[in-house]
Amino acid sequence: MFTRSRILLGMALLLSLILVPSVFAGGWAVVTLDELPVNATAGEPLTVGFTVRQHGKTPLGGLSPTVTFTLPKEEQFAVTAEEDGDEGHYSATVTFPKEGEWEWSIEAFTMNQPMPTISVAASSLAPSTAKSEPVPYMLILRTLAFGLGLIGLFIALRKKTRIAIAFTAICLAVGLASFIPVSTVPKVEAQTNLSSQPAGESSISQVELGRRLFIAKGCITCHVNSKVGSADYWTIEMGAPNLTSFTASPEYLRMWLADPKSVKRLTEMPNLKLSETEIEALIAFISSK
Ligand code: HEC
Repeated sequence: MFTRSRILLGMALLLSLILVPSVFAGGWAVVTLDELPVNATAGEPLTVGFTVRQHGKTPLGGLSPTVTFTLPKEEQFAVTAEEDGDEGHYSATVTFPKEGEWEWSIEAFTMNQPMPTISVAASSLAPSTAKSEPVPYMLILRTLAFGLGLIGLFIALRKKTRIAIAFTAICLAVGLASFIPVSTVPKVEAQTNLSSQPAGESSISQVELGRRLFIAKGCITCHVNSKVGSADYWTIEMGAPNLTSFTASPEYLRMWLADPKSVKRLTEMPNLKLSETEIEALIAFISSK
């Protein structure tokens, strides 16, 4: 005779059998983004890459991490990341349906790791048309010049008139000249690219950049740091120091973050393969008041 409470008790037991071991049997991992996403634009694909390290140490392959994107109170969708490149490295390509401050998280193993918000810009068609414009214009001119030159050459060979020879020469000259401006086109493009580079990411402070990296690189999974903010972070109690009011010299931190084992051979802290720029921003954040 099964009462409802017994069934519930049974289900709870079953659930705990499934869930508890995954946490105790080493069920935690650190997700480290390759880099903070920049210049995200609605309607344009963006690829995010990351590494999953079990216990923050061993790169963990064979997973199908779920990456969930949420525009608060509006919409939510998820994509599955696929393994690529090195062991434990995954990437997912996402196309945001619209602009806004998108929250997102990566669930790779057992825990769902929140990532720093992505600012997605409104889709803009202008840059892509500007880019493709010079090419057809030049191509048309060149094709025309060489085409007419060929006809002129044909006539010149047949009739041997001066006009035909002169016409051929002019067409060939115009066709060849069309190559000259083309070599300057990339320069112009590079310039416009530079100036049209949105100021968005570069205009944030080093400290703010460091705060985002502290989340994106997975530091928050091992270290408590109340300067990070209020979102729900899952920090594992594994003996890593609370970094809220940590101080050390920048020189020391540079060495430590580049390769913790070079400072302390038996440390539990992994080498997260940070770039120099990332390290400088992280130092600014850690040292901020
Ligand atoms: C897998 C867990 C883990 C991750 C991820 C991690 N740390 Fe650590 N970290 C530790 C542990 C453990 C220590 C204590 C090191 C020791 O004494 O061996 C530590 C120590 C430190 C220290 C203090 C060094 C000292 O000499 O006292 C700093 C600063 C630090 N971590 C910064 C970071 C930053 C920044 C990140 C992210 C880029 C990060 N950690 C990611 C585990 C981690």
